[in-house]
Amino acid sequence: MAPSLLAADFGRLADQLQDAAKAGAEVAHIDIMDGHFVPNLSMGPGLVQAIRASSAMLFDVHLMISNPDRYIKAFADAGADHITIHVESEGNIAAAIEQIHSLGCSAGITLRPGTPIESLYPFLPMVELALVMTVEPGFGGQSFMASQLPKITALRKWACDNGRELHVEVDGGIKASNAAETVAAGANVLVAGSSIFNHKVPVADAVNAIRDAL
Ligand code: DX5
Ligand code: ZN
Repeated sequence: MAPSLLAADFGRLADQLQDAAKAGAEVAHIDIMDGHFVPNLSMGPGLVQAIRASSAMLFDVHLMISNPDRYIKAFADAGADHITIHVESEGNIAAAIEQIHSLGCSAGITLRPGTPIESLYPFLPMVELALVMTVEPGFGGQSFMASQLPKITALRKWACDNGRELHVEVDGGIKASNAAETVAAGANVLVAGSSIFNHKVPVADAVNAIRDAL
């Protein structure tokens, strides 16, 4: 379980992280948007650094930015444990993955829903994680796109065929009613924003509801 901070109350991020950790979530998914790669702005390395001090969770940084190579070091220095970049972003993707590793972080590669899965294959041998977007990147609270499930299956198959322990993460519209089908397809890391951080149920209940559904 990787709660996405994008849906959390930004005024009390440390508390929200603590609630998620207490409920057993081990990963904090942190969405970085530049207003260019996606039509939204979110947070920068300063905020990541500020919450790093109050959380022992694994920080999983999802860079939805046009030039990841310019900012990878800043996020690694701010306390990222893992950094995922988009295959559609600019610059040399392989070099960016190498840079992530050289800074002591694990690396991930991801793609927009409209991008074919084949675009990831050249980079899979280099990464520890592949992320399947089940919404168009940019905003929380969108509906899950079941059309993306075959990508999860294809990635899990690639990992099995190649004897690799690849994490397959799914991000977008995940909730208790669709979590099980993503795991059945081959996902092992589930990002969830608005279904975990909302005003309807306590964070722990929301995490448990997804876990129970598996
Ligand atoms: C979308 C982000 C997601 C988002 C998920 O661009 O990558 O991580 O926060 O939010 P929900 O779970 O509400 O779809
Ligand atoms: Zn994300």
